Amino acid sequence: MEYVLELKGISKAFPGVRALDNVHFNLKPGCVHALCGENGAGKSTLIKIINGIYKMDQGDIFYKGERIIPQNPKQMLDLGVATIHQELSPILDMTIAENIFLGREPLNKINLIDVRKLYRDTQKLLDDYGFKYNSHTTMRNLSISDLALIEIVKAVSRDASVVIMDEPTSSITESETMLLFEKIRQLKAQGISVIYISHKIDEIFEICDEVTIFRDGKWVFNCPIKDIDKNGIIEKMVGREIREQFPKEDVEIGDSIFEIRELDGWRFHNVSLNVRRGEIVGVAGLVGAGRSELFRAVFGLEEIKSGEMFLEGKQLRIRESKDAIEAGILMTSEDRKREGVVLCLSVRENIILSSLKEIMEYGLLNFRKEKSNVNEMIEKLSIKISSQNDLVSSLSGGNQQKVVLAKWLLKSPKVLILDEPTRGIDVGAKYEIYKLMCVLAKQGVSIIMISSELLELIGMSDRIVVMSRGKLTGEMNRSEFSQKRIMEFAIRGFENEQSKAE
Ligand SMILES: Nc1ncnc2c1ncn2[C@@H]1O[C@H](COP(=O)(O)OP(=O)(O)OP(=O)(O)O)[C@@H](O)[C@H]1O
Ligand SMILES: [Mg+2]
Repeated sequence: MEYVLELKGISKAFPGVRALDNVHFNLKPGCVHALCGENGAGKSTLIKIINGIYKMDQGDIFYKGERIIPQNPKQMLDLGVATIHQELSPILDMTIAENIFLGREPLNKINLIDVRKLYRDTQKLLDDYGFKYNSHTTMRNLSISDLALIEIVKAVSRDASVVIMDEPTSSITESETMLLFEKIRQLKAQGISVIYISHKIDEIFEICDEVTIFRDGKWVFNCPIKDIDKNGIIEKMVGREIREQFPKEDVEIGDSIFEIRELDGWRFHNVSLNVRRGEIVGVAGLVGAGRSELFRAVFGLEEIKSGEMFLEGKQLRIRESKDAIEAGILMTSEDRKREGVVLCLSVRENIILSSLKEIMEYGLLNFRKEKSNVNEMIEKLSIKISSQNDLVSSLSGGNQQKVVLAKWLLKSPKVLILDEPTRGIDVGAKYEIYKLMCVLAKQGVSIIMISSELLELIGMSDRIVVMSRGKLTGEMNRSEFSQKRIMEFAIRGFENEQSKAE
């Protein structure tokens, strides 16, 4: 058998978009095959077709040499195709164990679910992976990175011949990514094939054997990974050359404008921080370090137990995010699905939602202004849509993220907090977002960027602060940046624990 999965002449159109136009894709046994392309290139659509979630308009699919017509994800799972989807949609009321074994629960002699075995097996699985979860925990209580990890365990613990991973690492840390890669290598050794989708190009070179590239719904390129380099992939993806990855500009940095003084909350302690006008402050740390919690609290989404905040010298009282927004502090959330966008509204409605007041005139909505404002944002961020009326739920993952950004940029913030702003965003669009950050900084906006990508922090920040276990553990200026230093600060507080255990 030359190919375990063979896709031929696949086409799929949605109203106004040709998501896939006569593409092909061949997966060899035991091969880790990267599928690359910009936001909206059609990658997730192909995966959903393989899973029977979308019906293709045209094309043939062969699995282990036999022609199949995917009906639904369950059928494909039974055949041996397990998928980690880009947009996770776990059943939040289930426990971790129920979720991992959904549809294949262990049964006892009288064909009832063997609950004790279910939890025991799950616990063993989690322990084997080195994940510190209790199998009884409900999914609702997990953070987005936890959910991603559970999804990974779920998919790779299936007895599959093909495992599909659509952006598996977009919300997990680098050390967790290493665990995942270890797992992928094991799968490969067992002859299992993997389709790997990621916007992190370095990962592709680390783990993949072969790459296929789509652009605008069309197949453009395929080769073994050893025959291409990073710039080659980027060029084929975007159809043009991108020379610098981080377009950081030197901006004159002004006085301190925003100050946090001895802030205490449930998951952050005694944090003090000054941010200056036009400054980009990167916030580094491991997942769980309390970075999102801290800034969610600053933005009024989580409780502050004590401490003070000042904006332009004036003390702030932030009880809910409305107060923060009114003061000029805006934040994009790391979990765009839960907090960033309203999926059932259109792109225009989403972008305009929080700026309604500004574009009202005499109590009426100024439609012309609304439309041109939205257009400007769509162009600035190169959001790929067929019309402003497209529902956000129909956009590709990266384009949804851009809608979240567009929404806040319209409001001309004083302080902009970006939590993982480029997660799931392709290289071309990342570049656009970085450029936009520079433009904003030049206009005097102070930017706080929480990111798990060290290179991005190093490339774009004027200053990096590091958090570990809810505390600020380090701070460095541009001339002092290094991955090693950041990591040293990021694990502060953990070393002690280890020596205690010994
Ligand atoms: N359910 C849908 N209804 C309408 N259009 C859709 C739907 N799903 C996808 N599309 C459109 O199809 C195109 C391809 O989207 P897809 O999600 O496959 O992109 P992608 O390559 O996965 O991008 P990303 O890297 O951002 O995840 C996009 O233009 C998208 O807006
Ligand atoms: Mg996608």
